[in-house]
Amino acid sequence: MCGIVGYVGFKEKKEILLDSLQELEYRGYDSAGMAVIQDDTIHHFKAIGKLSNLKDKTKDYQSQGFGISIGHTRWATHGKPTELNAHPHLGDYSYVVHNGIIENYQALKKSLQAKGVKFVSQTDTETIVHLFEDEHKTADSVFEAFTQTLDKLKGAYATLLISKADTQTIYFAKHGSPMLVGFEGDDIYFASSDTPIIGKATAVYYLEDGEYGYASKGKLHLFDAHGKKDFSTQVLCTDKVLAQKDGYRFFMEKEIYEQSTVMSDTMMGRVLDHSIVLDELDADFFQDIKAIKICACGTSYHSALTSAYLFERLSKIRCDIEIASEFRYKEPLLTPDTLFITISQSGETADTLEALKMAKRAGLKSLSICNVDNSSIVRESDTAILTRAGIEKGVASTKAFATQTMVLWILSLYIGQTKKTITQEILQKEIDAMLHIPKSLQVSDVLHEKLHRLSKRYLHGHGFFFIGRDIFYPLALEGALKLKEISYLHAEGYPAGEMKHGPIALADSELFTIALMPKSMHYEKIKSNVEELSARDATICAISPEPFALADDFIQTKYSFHPMVEFFEMMVVTQLFALEIAVRLGNDVDMPRNLAKSVTVE
Ligand code: F6R
Repeated sequence: MCGIVGYVGFKEKKEILLDSLQELEYRGYDSAGMAVIQDDTIHHFKAIGKLSNLKDKTKDYQSQGFGISIGHTRWATHGKPTELNAHPHLGDYSYVVHNGIIENYQALKKSLQAKGVKFVSQTDTETIVHLFEDEHKTADSVFEAFTQTLDKLKGAYATLLISKADTQTIYFAKHGSPMLVGFEGDDIYFASSDTPIIGKATAVYYLEDGEYGYASKGKLHLFDAHGKKDFSTQVLCTDKVLAQKDGYRFFMEKEIYEQSTVMSDTMMGRVLDHSIVLDELDADFFQDIKAIKICACGTSYHSALTSAYLFERLSKIRCDIEIASEFRYKEPLLTPDTLFITISQSGETADTLEALKMAKRAGLKSLSICNVDNSSIVRESDTAILTRAGIEKGVASTKAFATQTMVLWILSLYIGQTKKTITQEILQKEIDAMLHIPKSLQVSDVLHEKLHRLSKRYLHGHGFFFIGRDIFYPLALEGALKLKEISYLHAEGYPAGEMKHGPIALADSELFTIALMPKSMHYEKIKSNVEELSARDATICAISPEPFALADDFIQTKYSFHPMVEFFEMMVVTQLFALEIAVRLGNDVDMPRNLAKSVTVE
């Protein structure tokens, strides 16, 4: 998602910032900016789109001598990707860059506006700089104003602030979003990950949550809740690709592990303690809507299939799902009381985009659920809800699926809440389950190690059946797709109750059945389906909280009161299962053969 860089020293600052921001491009962004203070003068530049646009804007600028500087690449979360919304955000005499989300920004903004402060952007970040300048009016020092500002912020953030009130110093804080400090001689660098400072700094200190302080000529002053703090640096790694992977072997593996944190981003500001808020939708958005039709491809289609159960169960609204490439040529009957939803990670999938255009021609209202703001599908839709997964580099989609499914779950509750198809009691139960998801997505070493060991038994055979019922059926489809994509083994997802209508003919010891057996939903039903397969000698790998006597292999998940919590936990198991098999088979996990990340052809 967003990227932060900063530099204090004598070197040419523009080049350092541009080069550092370039190293953050892999995270995805839609605008970029920088601010440099030198000799009491502030220079600042912002540009939407590619970094080359920022380079063009800064081509006549060069910094000389000592100075302080901050830069940012922005991935839009609050407000569109425009220059005004790009960072650094400015007050009257200070600039700030920020990653994360300030949860209480609306309340802070209101009270600042009441004091006459003018806001120019739609972002939460701008609040920080105005709050700082407001605190500075009464504080004894710039640092005191900065710490008082931090005390008032709620949410997750990493931030850098520079001000004409102290032209020698960068102020920094980390609380829930990553940031590190690099050192080389008297030069001090800040960044949201290693890559921008590799080749520039030789030593690094990874800031901990709750740490803050300031950096001036060659010296970093670090504080935490207990006051001033000593720290020691470590040697900085020198391999950039390795650094982008944050120590994981593959981007896909990193993205599986990231799911816990990105889901918090997806929910932030939308899932409140007792209600659901979707700022993206007008209050009367669902007024004339009687049905939903969703079009998508591949993994996004599986996420859509999952949501159909939720829309009908919670929102009490009819929901049909179509594969986009099929929808395009079937001469569908479309009625204007149907909301047309497209789901796409990239926002560029040709079939999904064309399906959307067809629906628009038929006069349907459209909503896209997408990971990339300003993508073709987002631009083409009436409204979009962004999934906030951050860029996904592994071709096999993982965190995109998780966040799409979360957005759809949120949307189903939003409709339920708006149309009053659910009671406050049910809504509360759903919200409680949602708030538990980031925890249930945390990958434990024990689980990963178990899947690693188990994977060696699943490298042959004549095929895999992933089976499940209800929402676990689309998850079975998705589990099978993940395995196919990266292991090149044949796998199918099936509704467990359908096996006896044909596919069970394939059952023998070389048929691997991956059975999704949640305890909170239809357990006895799926159990009998698995027993039928076991009786035909199929090899059973059961994923369940409940020990299952007939399982050849058993992966125990946690008991939960809510099927969606079980859903997401089992999702991680199937993702890691596919990953470990593919690794053992020696395949290129991040770039599987014959596949592309964005399918822009029919
Ligand atoms: C599978 C995968 C694909 C995509 C599909 C649609 O891991 O990534 O099946 O889901 O190509 O792509 P988007 O979501 O970008 O429209």
